[in-house]
Amino acid sequence: MAHADAAAGAAGHLPADLRALLAGERDLIANCANAAALLWHRLPRLNWAGFYLLRDGELVLGPFQGKPACTRIALSRGVCGAAASTRATINVPDVTLFPGHIACDSASRSELVVPLLRDGALLGVLDLDSPDLARFDAETVRIAEAVAAVIAGGSASRPSA
Ligand code: SME
Repeated sequence: MAHADAAAGAAGHLPADLRALLAGERDLIANCANAAALLWHRLPRLNWAGFYLLRDGELVLGPFQGKPACTRIALSRGVCGAAASTRATINVPDVTLFPGHIACDSASRSELVVPLLRDGALLGVLDLDSPDLARFDAETVRIAEAVAAVIAGGSASRPSA
């Protein structure tokens, strides 16, 4: 797939299109950067789409689209920390009801965080935020989990590794 064409197309095709877009590239930062751009252009009603990557026991801001965000998140904090430490997808329909939610952008109303796992090892998390309550339906969760699997399976665990 030509890179300039990657932003067009249906959301459901996103994991397969991402696989084609990332083919031949294993750098984690490069792949997260293209994935963030693809998610941002394909999925409607988002105000943030991006990655936090595990570095020395904490989550550090990675490639993203949206407003500038907090740079470091402990594994004990926020939705991102909860998804990372439990290694499970966390779908929060109303962020005001999630104890410890970190409000990087006050416009966020709902949030979906998916861990990036390879052979049980945590590489980081994919984080999607929406200005709408309960934005993330089962189909979007499926897409986000598939995207996380494509990145984790197709990238080296460290940049430039
Ligand atoms: N809301 C997240 C923090 C990251 S920003 O949404 C980009 C959390 O509670 O972990």
